[in-house]
Amino acid sequence: MTSETQDNLLHEERVFPPSPEFAAQANAQPELYERAAADRLNFWAEQARDLVEWQTPFTETLDWSNPPFARWFGDGKLNVTYNCVDRHVEAGHGDRVAIHFEGEPGDTLSLTYRELQDQVSRAANVLQSLGVQTGDRVAVYLPMIPEAVIALLACARIGAPHSVVFGGFSAEALRSRIEDAEAKVVITADGGYRRGNPFALKPAVDEALAQGAESVKHVLTVRRTGQETAWTEGRDVWWSEALAAASDTHEPVWVDAEHPLFILYTSGTTGKPKGILHTTGGYLTQVTYSFKNVFDIKPETDVFWCTADVGWITGHSYVAYGPLSNGATQVLYEGTPDSPHRGRWWEIVQKYRVSILYTAPTAIRTFMKWGEEIPADFDLSSLRLLGSVGENINPEAWIWYRRVIGGDRCPIVDTWWQTETGSILISPLPGITGARPGSAQKPLPGVVASVFDDAGEHLESGSGYLVLDEPWPSMLRGIWGDPERFKETYWSRFPGVYFAGDGANLDHEGDIWLLGRVDDVMNVSGHRLSTAEIESALVSHPKVAEAAVVGAADATTGQIPVAFVIVRSEFAEEAAADGAALSEALRAHVGTEIGAIAKPKKVMLVAELPKTRSGKIMRRLLRDVAENRAVGDTQTLADSSVMDLITQGLKS
Ligand code: PRX
Repeated sequence: MTSETQDNLLHEERVFPPSPEFAAQANAQPELYERAAADRLNFWAEQARDLVEWQTPFTETLDWSNPPFARWFGDGKLNVTYNCVDRHVEAGHGDRVAIHFEGEPGDTLSLTYRELQDQVSRAANVLQSLGVQTGDRVAVYLPMIPEAVIALLACARIGAPHSVVFGGFSAEALRSRIEDAEAKVVITADGGYRRGNPFALKPAVDEALAQGAESVKHVLTVRRTGQETAWTEGRDVWWSEALAAASDTHEPVWVDAEHPLFILYTSGTTGKPKGILHTTGGYLTQVTYSFKNVFDIKPETDVFWCTADVGWITGHSYVAYGPLSNGATQVLYEGTPDSPHRGRWWEIVQKYRVSILYTAPTAIRTFMKWGEEIPADFDLSSLRLLGSVGENINPEAWIWYRRVIGGDRCPIVDTWWQTETGSILISPLPGITGARPGSAQKPLPGVVASVFDDAGEHLESGSGYLVLDEPWPSMLRGIWGDPERFKETYWSRFPGVYFAGDGANLDHEGDIWLLGRVDDVMNVSGHRLSTAEIESALVSHPKVAEAAVVGAADATTGQIPVAFVIVRSEFAEEAAADGAALSEALRAHVGTEIGAIAKPKKVMLVAELPKTRSGKIMRRLLRDVAENRAVGDTQTLADSSVMDLITQGLKS
């Protein structure tokens, strides 16, 4: 066993209560739980009224007459961008910084709420002048630059649902997402900066549009790197020119509470990503509520920094919407933690006096590997609260985070949620909860979660499946264009409750410990990848007959994809002669089909795959191989010699 895996097994029994000083000033006080428990729906109605400005107030809180299709605050009207920008300017906070942007090359820009209002209004006018109407979809394919947030807010301002595609996804992945959502406009950039070098984005858009995506009429392009860019006259429009020519005032479009706000694609158990649909009123309410209470935000004094890319749900809810609807000041950083040096993040914390930091365990484990002398060189005394998201945080990383980054004084919130849940659902509350390293602990006030056994019975304690018993305001409203898949994926395993796809352990104190996915979804550096999606990318290669992908445990990234591939017989000789070259070509192919994040760490060429008599691939056995373990029980295999063949073949 390596020291790293030993560390992962460290069992931490200590409980870390908040300091009396923190508890006394916290936004969330214990009565929040009491109020929610006393009357859950009324609690949510109160949150919606207190935290959100409605143009037309709602009278009905929840309509659950047609489950699983929920309607929250259904007869109210509002605008998300008005709530995130204009109302703060109107309240006299126009000069407060909304975004401190730090570009990777070192360029910076601070945008006040008033400046944000100006930019967002112009961008909204530009979108409308390009023919985007309320209800039309807009694809966003941008690096982490202020325009990413401005683009989202401009879409929300005119009621055009956005579909953000992470900049690390390939042209092919972009094309399929644009086609599924039938986006009318794509907002992109010439490129961005990563690890000290510019990378290009616009060519991927051009390629996607050359291959299909015929719904797209215009490509609005931000000039970020100044790279040479192919240009299609009439279709392509420079962002800066269009915004400069547009009016800086814009009347928000007031939409129904259930108007679609965005679609965000995420991986499921099949090859085709699901377009998760979120709507307006419930999403904004719960994102605003969770941001205020979990991160204890004090908008006048705090500087918040969420390190997630806007291409993921965390970047939607806790970069774009949550901080801004609360009127907070936040940092937006374009690049990687090691560029130009491994202290970059801590330099940023020091420079902007960041007080609340929200990041993923994989980053923390990477910093642990790099050594604590790196953060020790910077002044991190401004930090007062730390957050974690995306995967289990092992106690060792939790303790390190608290001690080295948080100076042993900052509460840590380990927040469990999903693209589908829209906002944080399970988390300690930082002024209340005695934190236990490695556990996300309790559902937030207003949220009802349980652990079910196989038969769908509530467990009092023990391990089973995480479910959400009651609808919540920011829940997904469906899968874009596929209501049946929505019902099937989340509501059929245990009728009447939401099945999260995570295993969980409920302990005697009522704390929830997440145990990872129970389906064929991997978690790689806090990003969700589906084994089926990578498999279908592999079998789309002309030399591949069959493929199986598993997520193997990795001490830094949580899991890594490992592929087992059967080559078509006509290429068997080639594979035998130079397997390494073929494996590399297949890795590159996955990069082209999906994106670099999905590339298998290893591609193993094998003669057979282990299957049950009904033809199902036994991934459990392949995971044993990928994790260098003795292969488990092979009795259910149709041909029990297959695993010997695989392990011997790999040895030779
Ligand atoms: O398995 C859980 C894991 O991430 C999955 C959701 O992934 P995604 O939709 O990409 O959203 C990630 C960011 C919200 C969950 O099903 N997960 C997320 N947070 C935690 C977690 N696992 C353990 N602990 C967490 N705090």
